[in-house]
Amino acid sequence: MSSGKTKADIIMKLSPAHSISGQLRLPGDKSISHRAALIAALADGSTEIFNFSTAADCASTVNCLKELGVSVTRQKDKLIFAGTQKLMAPRHPLDCGNSGSTLRILAGVLAGHDFSAELTGDQSLSSRPMRRIIEPLELMGAKIESTNGKAPLKIQGSSKLTPITYQLPVASAQVKSAILFAGLNAPARTAVIETSPSRDPTERLFRGFGVPVTTNADLSVTIDGPARFHGGAITIPGDVSSAAYFVAAAMLLPKSQLRIEGVGLNPTRAAFLSVLNSWGANISTSDVQTERNEPYGTLNLRGGIRKTASEIDRTLRQPLIPSLIDELPLLAVVGSQIDGGISIRDAAELRLKESDRLAATATNLRAMGATVEEFEDGLAVSGPTRLRGAFIDSFGDHRIAMAFAVAALLADGETEIAGAECVAISFPEFFNLLDSLARR
Ligand code: S3P
Repeated sequence: MSSGKTKADIIMKLSPAHSISGQLRLPGDKSISHRAALIAALADGSTEIFNFSTAADCASTVNCLKELGVSVTRQKDKLIFAGTQKLMAPRHPLDCGNSGSTLRILAGVLAGHDFSAELTGDQSLSSRPMRRIIEPLELMGAKIESTNGKAPLKIQGSSKLTPITYQLPVASAQVKSAILFAGLNAPARTAVIETSPSRDPTERLFRGFGVPVTTNADLSVTIDGPARFHGGAITIPGDVSSAAYFVAAAMLLPKSQLRIEGVGLNPTRAAFLSVLNSWGANISTSDVQTERNEPYGTLNLRGGIRKTASEIDRTLRQPLIPSLIDELPLLAVVGSQIDGGISIRDAAELRLKESDRLAATATNLRAMGATVEEFEDGLAVSGPTRLRGAFIDSFGDHRIAMAFAVAALLADGETEIAGAECVAISFPEFFNLLDSLARR
């Protein structure tokens, strides 16, 4: 593996591998890290966060919190939040970078504070839909200015919000979380009703830091405000979405043997593991424990696909989509190796991520020789296809760059990934780790 240029727009060159082997631990889960930082900033008492994510997205959350006057210090293996503080009106716009979770969830926090603040983001984030948080937060009493429903957002919050019962138009953990954080400052029951269950680290961590949240059979989640967190220590489990790339690579390279320790196993995040097993992977979990209600454990994997075409259910649809959402480009790559191929439907949300992930996945898979049909809400990928090395456009999207780095290991010849530096958004260590695990 070698990189072409030095600064922005790095072209990463990858050659094929015959297996992925080794044992590793991963930096903390991105979703949990965002939420742990926000909770620590609002908590009574101090909080120590171990194994905080190394993602640029999570650094955006911490930097925004510092701008809001939060005292955060780094000691070698932990972040320490002083706690028992009031957020202060920021003097500058809060730069959320590329991070949708930072912007949307922080908007929910700011909605409950008596000052105004501006949230900005990079070009990709500024093109993503924000009406989904503006509408419920305005119903609760915040005032939000936007540019046609997009960032930058100017938020005038209030410490006396009105509780609401809100049906989410799309399953979104970020929107659900924004409303739950706002609900901390609303003086009665706030309820969010989902269409399909989205990832739930907010609910788990709220409970873990002393704020009861109820999850009900009708897919409603409720919080009784006003409520405050109790600070404490947390060790963030390894990021299962980062693990996904190594797991998929190991499955597809038959001689592989991989062990990933301390990785998050929250079922609303880790559904790709059961999908891969249903497609014939050999993945097992061991040493399962919990940390502040988040399950984590060891993933053990032996390479190879152990199912025949007739045994495989090859369509991914609701209600599974939200718990696979960030792994769908990768699952499309895996699908190109599955006998009979796979299809993904009910996933129009993928067009609204850091890039249009349906278009980016289809374009790049075709460049590598796969046959792909693109729908408004999904993809059908034929398989098995022998991929060939190609020039891949990351579209500045970390998950696209990493999914096609996995494809590159299977391909004949060399693959070049343009804009490879974007992996730092969620997983700066990715290419080095991949290089150390790949046997060529
Ligand atoms: C996230 C939720 C998902 C996911 C994103 C992180 C979170 O987005 O795609 O990468 O941390 O809550 P949506 O909730 O908008 O689907």
